[in-house]
Amino acid sequence: MVKHFNIFLVALALTLGISRCKPPKEQVTRPARLDLAEKKLGDLRELAVEQNKIPRSEEPNGEIMWATKYDQHGKMKFDWTLGFFPGTCWYLYEHTNDIAWKKAAIKFQEQIEPFKTNLNSHDLGFVFYCSFGNGYRITGEPAYRQVLIEAGNSLLSRYSPTVGCIQSWNVDSGWQAERGWSFPVIIDNMMNLELLFELTELTGDNKYREVAIAHADQTLKHHFREDNSSYHVVDYDASSGQVRHKHTAQGFAHESAWARGQAWGLYGYTVCFRYTKDERYLNRAIKIADFMVNHPNLPADGVPYWDFNAPNIPDEPRDVSAAAITASALVELNRYTGQKYKSEVDKILKSLSSDAYLVGAHDETKFLLDHSVGSIPHGAEIDEPLAYADYYYVEAVLRQQDKQHILQ
Ligand code: GLY
Repeated sequence: MVKHFNIFLVALALTLGISRCKPPKEQVTRPARLDLAEKKLGDLRELAVEQNKIPRSEEPNGEIMWATKYDQHGKMKFDWTLGFFPGTCWYLYEHTNDIAWKKAAIKFQEQIEPFKTNLNSHDLGFVFYCSFGNGYRITGEPAYRQVLIEAGNSLLSRYSPTVGCIQSWNVDSGWQAERGWSFPVIIDNMMNLELLFELTELTGDNKYREVAIAHADQTLKHHFREDNSSYHVVDYDASSGQVRHKHTAQGFAHESAWARGQAWGLYGYTVCFRYTKDERYLNRAIKIADFMVNHPNLPADGVPYWDFNAPNIPDEPRDVSAAAITASALVELNRYTGQKYKSEVDKILKSLSSDAYLVGAHDETKFLLDHSVGSIPHGAEIDEPLAYADYYYVEAVLRQQDKQHILQ
């Protein structure tokens, strides 16, 4: 049955001329870490399917915090983490050939799809690329490609030629409205460029790539400090394009190095180099990596505190999500640098796969990795599991095994 399905997918890919589409492969051996992912996340998947909700993290009392939420009118709310669990389902489908993962990914994607026309968030790259992007890479389903195009077009609507960037947060509501910003751009936004670069590859239309490059170039100019760490938020003047403020939102201080922000920048510029082969992006990624791996406050196991300048190190929470994103980015960066960061990747993945962070098969925690930080300044998800830590960990392990998990 599986074999026939594989043959069908190959035939479909050939028919559609999609060279990047590859059928799920058969695995002869499975590293223990992904066996545990199958077990833990398989249980979580069953629960999520039953509830018809996408998991995001856990409350301190152990209850699942769902990314699927509704407002008082019963309308589903957008959440930047909606794509990660479906994306993890795609990865585990690809790894195992177990159709239950594919069914779950499709079921959860259906919840997400209406947000492809959402013009209020820059997180469309995260949400749609992790879910539909992986789904398209694995299955070659033309409807997924169409969803990616629509999401990418919505993302482009947030680009300002005056600023040369995609606007991150809106400034007319929520906690962001209290910060006095005009056109905030956060380093996390580098993660939304992969969708745009890939859309130019898929459609031949250069408009997506042009915006991605403009955004990456402006961020190169304004987001980085002399020591190669990055600011979290650069606020531009929407009417002149001038920089107004350099702030933080989720880090310890405006001048501190928020750990996940460094990881987003590292991953983002590595992707920019993948698509452009522009050495400036490669050099930036190397400088970020060097800042992180050589930092005196990076613990020996390679899992950073939530901020490299957090005030009470070593009595500060670690951020496993930052470590998982860093590991995945470094696996790719290793390919462009003669394996410069091989020992760092090995160390991080070994640490994350240890009892210190990986949740046991019978532990009550329902996710794979514990000890991440959502946002300490917002008092949210502190020392908890997070769906995106699991996503980037699974991605990193798969990338190490199989080069196909990087699209080009
Ligand atoms: N905005 C994504 C993050 O919290 O890292």
